[in-house]
Amino acid sequence: MMTGEEPKPEQARWLEAYLILLADHGLNASTFAARVVASTGADLTSAMVGAVGALKGPAHGGAATAAMKMLNQVGGPEKAEAFVIDVLDKHGRLMGFGHRVYRTYDPRATILRQLVQSANPTFYAVASKVEEVALRELLARHPERPNATNVDYYSAGVLAGAGLPHEYFTCAFAASRIVGWSAHVLEYMGKDGRILRPASQWIGPDPSQRVVAKA
Ligand SMILES: CC(C)(COP(=O)(O)OP(=O)(O)OC[C@H]1O[C@@H](n2cnc3c(N)ncnc32)[C@H](O)[C@@H]1OP(=O)(O)O)[C@@H](O)C(=O)NCCC(=O)NCCS
Repeated sequence: MMTGEEPKPEQARWLEAYLILLADHGLNASTFAARVVASTGADLTSAMVGAVGALKGPAHGGAATAAMKMLNQVGGPEKAEAFVIDVLDKHGRLMGFGHRVYRTYDPRATILRQLVQSANPTFYAVASKVEEVALRELLARHPERPNATNVDYYSAGVLAGAGLPHEYFTCAFAASRIVGWSAHVLEYMGKDGRILRPASQWIGPDPSQRVVAKA
C-alpha cells in the first residue's frame, strides 16, 4: 500500500519478524504510560494515544530513526572508529545502544542482526563496524554499568530493507507495540484497576528550618 506495488516475499518476512519481535516488552515507558491512562478510568483509545506520545522520544521508540540518522553520518566502515570515539569524547549518546533494564546484548538485536545481513548489506557493513567499536568503548568507559546493542539499532536496517523510509520507523514500532499496550490495558481494566499514582519526594531545603527575614 505504501509503494503501490506488492512487496517481495522476503521484505514481508523481514517486516513480519520485526512486528513479532517488538510486540511487547514488559513495563517499558510507553506501556507504563498506557497503564497510567487506563488506571484513571479513561477509555482504551486514550490509553493508546498516551502510549504513542511516550514512544515517540529518541530514548524510546524514536531510537531507530535516530540510529539510522547517526549511521548515515559515519561516512563508511573505515570511519567508524573515529566517529564513535568523537561522539563519546563529546559526551554524546550512541543511538541504538544502552537500555534502562538490560545490561547485556538485547536478544532481539541478535535476531535482527542476522536478518539485516540479507535485508540491508550496505547498512550492515557500517553498522557492524560501529557496533564493534561502540561495545568496546562503552565497556571501557563505564565497566560498572555496561551498555550494549539494543533492539532499535538493527531495527533501522531491517525496516529500511523492507522498504520503509526512516520517518516511518516509529510508526512501525507503534503498529507492533499496540498489541502489547492493549493486552496490558485490558488486563489492568479487568482487575481492580486502582489508579496509578506514584509519590514524589521533596529533596529541597527543610521548610521547617526556613528563616524568615525580619522587616
Ligand atoms: C536507553 C537509555 C535512555 C538508558 O538510559 P539510562 O538507564 O539512564 O542509562 P545508564 O544508567 O546505563 O547510564 C547512563 C550513562 O551511561 C552512558 N550511556 C548510556 N547509554 C549510552 C549511549 N547510548 N551512548 C553513550 N553513552 C551512553 C552515559 O555515559 C551515561 O552517563 P551520564 O550519566 O554521564 O550521562 C540510554 O542508554 C540511551 O539514551 N540510549 C540511546 C537511545 C536508545 O537507543 N534508546 C532505545 C532504548 S531501547
